[in-house]
Amino acid sequence: MASEETSETIAIASDHGGFELKNELKQDLMENGYTVLDLGPDSLESVDYPDFGYALAGAIKEGKAKRGVLICGSGIGISIAANRDSEIRAALVHDALGARLARQHNDANVVCFGGRTIGPEVARDCLKVFLETDFEDGGRHSRRVDKLSDPQ
Ligand code: RB5
Repeated sequence: MASEETSETIAIASDHGGFELKNELKQDLMENGYTVLDLGPDSLESVDYPDFGYALAGAIKEGKAKRGVLICGSGIGISIAANRDSEIRAALVHDALGARLARQHNDANVVCFGGRTIGPEVARDCLKVFLETDFEDGGRHSRRVDKLSDPQ
């Protein structure tokens, strides 16, 4: 996924529906040289996904991490929560093509998964692609992404 020299901090959070996948992806990130900022939860106890989506958005806004991973049962609620912040571009991803396009076209800074809808192997593949794909900066994609931060 990344070289041993990589020290980028990746923020990660979930609700109870994404707790197990969060732990698997966290382990994978650490094994691949990333520093992980785990914003919880720390158990399978039922929690509210907006609290964790907002916490991760806050961490990115505060500069604690540039990119993040969010997981709830479907990936839908927690992505909606994070996207309420104009600085967050959270993409709910189901396959590697979606992960690549989320970076190339949308400059997504958060990738979201459904812990009940995606298997760990596919999620790992998506996360690797997400982290290793650059935004196609300039031109039409930049113009469109700029508009996302400035709704009319
Ligand atoms: C929790 O049961 C579930 O609603 C949540 O994880 C998520 O799927 C919401 O969008």
